[in-house]
Amino acid sequence: MKILLTGAAGFIGFHTAQALLARGDEVIGFDNVSPYYDPKLKEDRLKLLEGKKGFTFIKGDILDRPALAKAMKGVDRVCHLAALAGVRYALEHPEEYVSTNIQGFFNVIDEVKVQGIPGLIYASSSSVYGSNEKFPAEEADKTENQVSLYGMTKKDNELMAYTYHHLHKINLTGLRFFTVYGPYGRPDMALFLFTDAILRGNPMHIYGEGKMQRDFTYVDDIVAGIVASIDKNYPYEIFNLGCGRKEELMDFITMIEKTCGKEGKKEFMDMQPGDVRVTSADISKAQKMLGFEPKTFIDKGIPQFVEWFRSYYKL
Ligand SMILES: NC(=O)c1ccc[n+]([C@@H]2O[C@H](COP(=O)([O-])OP(=O)(O)OC[C@H]3O[C@@H](n4cnc5c(N)ncnc54)[C@H](O)[C@@H]3O)[C@@H](O)[C@H]2O)c1
Repeated sequence: MKILLTGAAGFIGFHTAQALLARGDEVIGFDNVSPYYDPKLKEDRLKLLEGKKGFTFIKGDILDRPALAKAMKGVDRVCHLAALAGVRYALEHPEEYVSTNIQGFFNVIDEVKVQGIPGLIYASSSSVYGSNEKFPAEEADKTENQVSLYGMTKKDNELMAYTYHHLHKINLTGLRFFTVYGPYGRPDMALFLFTDAILRGNPMHIYGEGKMQRDFTYVDDIVAGIVASIDKNYPYEIFNLGCGRKEELMDFITMIEKTCGKEGKKEFMDMQPGDVRVTSADISKAQKMLGFEPKTFIDKGIPQFVEWFRSYYKL
């Protein structure tokens, strides 16, 4: 297949591109290499993709509709992962989130309609469950209680997708990812921040007094779910893609310390606005309809991340 992959220089996009190329698909990577976090990490990911058979890269913005339209010509699927992805960064940059995550999503979905592309697979988030207190979260649960601007943009994407499917019969699959981690991960996420602090001897900032629980999902498992969604190309679905296990934040930290061989300096802080105390995925729908079966749990996934981190940053 020929696939347009937005966000290809990003963490999940990079791993998705690798998996698609490895099985012989053609991938057009599209990314503006946004400076939201260290662009060097994105450039290094791209270096690993460039030169691989079947990969082309376009440095472009999803807000640039003509560039997007040109990149989409003749593809079999669009896999849309480009977005501003941090919950906390959204507090200070609401306008950028609304333009990239909502206007940008509109540009992608509307162009899919105009060009009659056979399927669009897009990234949503566990954040859409907002302040719900029912766990594990199922796809059919209510998603009206948005507590972060980021979550609101993802909920908006799902609403737009439903409307486009209803009106134009476009094949659309939305994937609610649950806290994804792994090599080449995002520098604003917990595992990266904690590992960095422990290895450099800096204090770790532990929000929510360490009482948060997360469904941590290894990136290879997420990619398997994305690839299965591309292949199945259901008319209209939303899936939770999580590990299906809830971890206590402090157990997660202990595992990182054990792997690093060092105890970290801990500074406990209040919950940040927009954060939720628990994320926990019911993945039975994805198991049944995508053959989704997470294989890497934190006892294996954390050491794989730390090994990459040490070698990438020479620590
Ligand atoms: N990582 C997670 O735990 C997680 C959880 C839930 C949902 N998601 C979603 O998954 C997707 C990928 O997340 P990620 O962790 O790889 O984030 P990432 O920030 O590493 O990747 C996103 C990529 O999108 C690109 N981008 C941003 N704005 C753009 C624009 N206007 N035009 C073109 N490209 C643009 C960025 O340069 C970046 O490379 C995002 O939609 C995110 O919201 C991620």
